[in-house]
Amino acid sequence: MDKLTILVVDDAPANIDVLKGILQDEYRIKVALNGQKAIDIANKDSDIDMILLDVMMPKMNGYQVCEALKSNAMTRNIPIIFVTAKSSAPDEKKGLALGAVDYIGKPVQPDIVKARVKTHMMLHNQQKHLEHLVEERTLKLKETQLEIIQCLGRAAEYKDNETGMHVLRMSEYSRILAAQLSNNKHWVNLLYLAAPMHDVGKIGISDDVLLKPGKLNSQEWELMKLHPVIGAEILGTDKSEVLSMAREVALSHHEKWDGSGYPKKLKGTEIPLSGRVVAVADVFDALTCKRSYKKAWTFEEACDYIMDNSGTHFDPDVCLAFSKVTVPFREIYVAFEE
Ligand SMILES: [Fe+2]
Ligand SMILES: [Fe+2]
Repeated sequence: MDKLTILVVDDAPANIDVLKGILQDEYRIKVALNGQKAIDIANKDSDIDMILLDVMMPKMNGYQVCEALKSNAMTRNIPIIFVTAKSSAPDEKKGLALGAVDYIGKPVQPDIVKARVKTHMMLHNQQKHLEHLVEERTLKLKETQLEIIQCLGRAAEYKDNETGMHVLRMSEYSRILAAQLSNNKHWVNLLYLAAPMHDVGKIGISDDVLLKPGKLNSQEWELMKLHPVIGAEILGTDKSEVLSMAREVALSHHEKWDGSGYPKKLKGTEIPLSGRVVAVADVFDALTCKRSYKKAWTFEEACDYIMDNSGTHFDPDVCLAFSKVTVPFREIYVAFEE
């Protein structure tokens, strides 16, 4: 295994030589003769595993160096041990309060230096290992969660007379619109991941209604209109970002800007932006698709419909965004043709 690296910081070369003599058999040693140099090295070399830091130095003292290192995300986690003649109890307290892990008094005892350094290296490595494990597991969990959500989206497609391509296209359309409306990439991506679940509630609608070839009567239509609420119930109360967004979209994608939509008859900005975006993406794709009961509208006809319904069915801002992204819309329309 490669030797771990220690940065020794002291304005007196003689002191550096002493520490180097004690530690260089077991560790790789880098040196800095002043505080600024130490900060520069710690920022530049990602391989510093520990810093032995003198307190009394001209210009920038050890406490200031420690503070600077701890306030920078790049260097925050490097363990710092103060090595100093200034070792009264209040001094030690101050150093530890700044985030140092230990304090060694000068003149140094070789065995004590070795033992303390070894202990703190071990602790630091254990912590790094644990952090790595947690990161790995968190990532795995997120992946699993996403897969489950996508399974749900596919399950809904099986029941619907719409094809898998509809879900694919409408989530791409949603992403394009969202990116035009917001600089928040995280939000845009969440909406993209959640959009395929917009009709998951159709799982709960009986086939007689869902797959009826002709027009629905008013009673059947009332049943059909339950799918947003059923969808939100299926998606549950989990607080994860993707599921929360999926729930929001499922519940609000049939609301209309003028308040004539369902299920809650929300009006204007009472409707979450995600729902206002998905409404345009969903309708646009439904229009341009052939169904058993209707022919496919042309791309231009569908564009006109969206713009004609700005301020009634759709949010005018979303329609304005839509009018600026018809080129990428057409790319999706062509690329994922049925
Ligand atoms: Fe729907
Ligand atoms: Fe849809």
